Amino acid sequence: MKVLSTPDEMRCWSDARRRAGHSIGFVPTMGALHSGHMALVADASRRCDDVVVSIFVNPLQFNEAADFDSYPRPIDDDVAMCEAVGVDAVYAPTAATMYPSGHQTRVVPGELAEVMEGAMRPGHFEGVVTVVAKLFGAVRPDTAVFGQKDYQQLAIIKRLAADLDMGIEIIGHPIVRETDGLAQSSRNVRLSADDRRRAVAVPRSLDAAVAATAAGATPAEAVAAAEQVVAAEPRARHEYTVVFDASTLRPLDSFDEHSEPGSARVATAVWFDDVRLIDNRDLFPD
Ligand code: PAJ
Repeated sequence: MKVLSTPDEMRCWSDARRRAGHSIGFVPTMGALHSGHMALVADASRRCDDVVVSIFVNPLQFNEAADFDSYPRPIDDDVAMCEAVGVDAVYAPTAATMYPSGHQTRVVPGELAEVMEGAMRPGHFEGVVTVVAKLFGAVRPDTAVFGQKDYQQLAIIKRLAADLDMGIEIIGHPIVRETDGLAQSSRNVRLSADDRRRAVAVPRSLDAAVAATAAGATPAEAVAAAEQVVAAEPRARHEYTVVFDASTLRPLDSFDEHSEPGSARVATAVWFDDVRLIDNRDLFPD
């Protein structure tokens, strides 16, 4: 397995693979890899001949310096994990390589970035879209796999690839969960053992929204059902719960045109101390 650290090295490697007739699948990450990331890698390797994983904690997408500083960076373990599952190349550039002095161009996302995470974290998606465009430029993949865990990010990246004619197929992979239902996340390791147990309130709140919807609730009632579960957990600080159209990401007032699987979702953000957890679910599962 190759470990590459500059865009030029990365592009040379990809060009050679493409000349050899290989298709390239790409999984961008910020490292601290867990089985959620590895499911994306397995998905990419089923679709393509070669798989590239990028590991880069992107300063541009963090709106709080403390969150950026405390983000876990177990790079040796990450590289070993990639090697163990047969990843072909890891692209791990430094911040100085990605953002040398004088850099100034940004990719600006549209309306999809204005709600939910975009509303709570100003500038976050501009940072995500800019770094993903740069990573795509270095890796030049045929296919890139993103998790539905960050459902809004996935929708915005699909638009990025289409709007800028990148010719990259964007795949959304289902959320990988712990046995108690908590979505796998690099931030979970920062929860105390007690909060980790209590964090199950997050997926349970979404289950409550799904159950309420199945019982005929309106979107507002589904949100209320979810919020009640979080409110019952004294260690949890609720930030938002939204029921939204799965394509436009706009909040829904009614389910009149949204009763098909995949048409409406519920998303939430909840804090435990200084750890922010996000999760989402299809409101009309099969
Ligand atoms: P990161 O949080 O490391 O996530 C990398 C990819 O793994 C994303 O596509 C994310 O949705 C996916 N992922 C994380 N946890 C998952 C889970 N439990 N189930 C399924 N997929 C999961 O997302 C980012 O990094 C960054 O914003 C990035 C796209 C790399 C740009 O910096």
